[in-house]
Amino acid sequence: MSNYHIKHLEEYYQVYRKSVRNPEVFWEEIAEEHFLWRKKWNNVLSWDFSKPEVKWFEGAKLNITENCIDRHLYTRGDKTAIIFEPNDPKEKAEHISYKQLHEKVCKFSNVLKAQGVKKGDRVCIYLPMIPELAISVLACARIGAIHSVVFAGFSSTALATRINDCDCKMVITSDGSYRGAKTIDLKGIVDDALEECPGVETVLVAKRIKSDIKMKEGRDKWLQPLLDKADNVCVPEIMDAEDPLFILYTSGSTGKPKGMVHTTAGYMVYTAYTFKNVFQYKEEDVYWCTADIGWITGHSYIVYGPLANGATTVMFEGVPSYPDYGRFWDIVEKHKINQFYTAPTAIRALAKEGVGHVEAHDLSSLKVLGTVGEPINEEAWHWYDDNIGKKKSPIVDTWWQTETGGIMITPIPFATPTKPTYATLPFPGIQPALMDENGKEIKGNQVDGRLCIKFPWPSMARTIWGNHQRYRDTYFTAFENKYFTGDGALRDEVGYYRITGRVDDVIIVSGHNLGTAPIEDAINEHPAVAESAIVGFPHDVKGNALYGYVILKDTGESRNQDNLRKEINQIITEQIGPIAKLDKIQFTNGLPKTRSGKIMRRILRKIAHKDTSNLGDTSTLLNPEVVQDIMDNAL
Ligand code: PRX
Repeated sequence: MSNYHIKHLEEYYQVYRKSVRNPEVFWEEIAEEHFLWRKKWNNVLSWDFSKPEVKWFEGAKLNITENCIDRHLYTRGDKTAIIFEPNDPKEKAEHISYKQLHEKVCKFSNVLKAQGVKKGDRVCIYLPMIPELAISVLACARIGAIHSVVFAGFSSTALATRINDCDCKMVITSDGSYRGAKTIDLKGIVDDALEECPGVETVLVAKRIKSDIKMKEGRDKWLQPLLDKADNVCVPEIMDAEDPLFILYTSGSTGKPKGMVHTTAGYMVYTAYTFKNVFQYKEEDVYWCTADIGWITGHSYIVYGPLANGATTVMFEGVPSYPDYGRFWDIVEKHKINQFYTAPTAIRALAKEGVGHVEAHDLSSLKVLGTVGEPINEEAWHWYDDNIGKKKSPIVDTWWQTETGGIMITPIPFATPTKPTYATLPFPGIQPALMDENGKEIKGNQVDGRLCIKFPWPSMARTIWGNHQRYRDTYFTAFENKYFTGDGALRDEVGYYRITGRVDDVIIVSGHNLGTAPIEDAINEHPAVAESAIVGFPHDVKGNALYGYVILKDTGESRNQDNLRKEINQIITEQIGPIAKLDKIQFTNGLPKTRSGKIMRRILRKIAHKDTSNLGDTSTLLNPEVVQDIMDNAL
């Protein structure tokens, strides 16, 4: 019997030891006992990080939607699979049972097929958090199409880049979306994007807003009439274990976004197993993750992980502040949420509003609380523990990444004693290593270094779409034979890990990964801008905010700096989205550079952090004089 459900610390250590000593037997047992396979694998694992090439459950055949839906039909057909909680609390929540989900996914799958989508085709999904989002994801998976969900807060330019990078032939969107008090013209954004995307043949449009929108003849089709005509049975496509399931874009330090490719069997096994243990999900529980399905957290822990366990998972369309800051707690009370998973930035924003909204609601259903996406500071951790969990619900601070597919370092509730700001212990199967700058592993406890993983796990991304070399260069060349996460971490006296943050040029703002390069490229498009550099600085709600240093072109004319700041943020909003706007913009005459012309971000970071006591040796810079000037005018 595999240890599918870990219940106490002893058991965790036992399971962990087994997972490391004999990973293949460990994962094979879990895969064998808990999933539906059309054919079993020939080989559990083959791997070579130098290529890199990783294959799990090679030779196996399956369809992930049979595991997430069909196999529950006999035992849980009438159980609620998805609760849809609309943006407006006055609108009724929708409960979709496993039977209904099956029918909806089958119909949607048949629509996709009728529109010419075939196994291996890429389909871009650009939808708000409405049921059609989860259903279209599952429909793609059912017919073997590769979904590429783009978060509906991204701009038309960002959307076009992602559609073209993986040659999507279809886009699924809606006539608009609700976000708090705002209504957003999603279809208009898609229309703008598609001016640059000649490969898109069809746009399916779900109806959410009652508005008149332009439909392009021959390309755009309303979804509902097609669904009405579709058959409610769709035989799932039988997939190979290593067939791609989806592409999801994430920012890098340089260059365009990376389309991380996740494959089928390993991803399913790992997300299901982590979901069960990290949230201690029990059959009658109602689980809510507040993320958007446009991010990996939503893929793995709103859709695939929960549904693979036959869970009830909540999809929330709105924002934590609408109609007021009590909305999250209102939903917890209304749906009697047992597991609640959110981001530190949301906790900080809500903590700022005081406990009035919290106390107005009955939160006694809560059993487990989770956080993800960025380091959680001690104050926010205690606020969450005291006021939301009432010190009775363990907090799982889960560390992982788009690339890892599933949770990697985390407490297991009721088993692992928690410690504020610590993600604690590696999940079974995960072998972390801390590395020094010379590429040597740092053994022992009470040490810090660069966080790597030295053995494959089932849900790791297999490549970057269309650019395997970049995958290798980004993750497998910094440290030989190891996956490099890009994060720094420390290990305390008992072996608990604390993630200290990115060690590259990725900045996490409100839990969103932002690369500096695309933002700088956007700023540089302003006709008055000669050059720019972005760094992060601490922000009490967002974790980090963006600080831009901008050199203007010498045009001889004087410009209003406040207007320029607005224009720069406007360009960023158009090119990337409002999440990437700068909080501070300092105009400067120069940027500190090395003799080879590289911007010394370390110095800029220190100035933005208002920590200029130890800037290091600046005398070797190409232009040491600019440092004082930047310091004198810092914001
Ligand atoms: O820096 C780490 C941070 O978020 C990065 C991954 O971002 P993304 O791919 O967008 O995925 C976010 C959701 C899984 C990591 O490299 N991060 C994520 N979780 C934590 C974290 N930092 C500290 N503590 C965490 N629990």
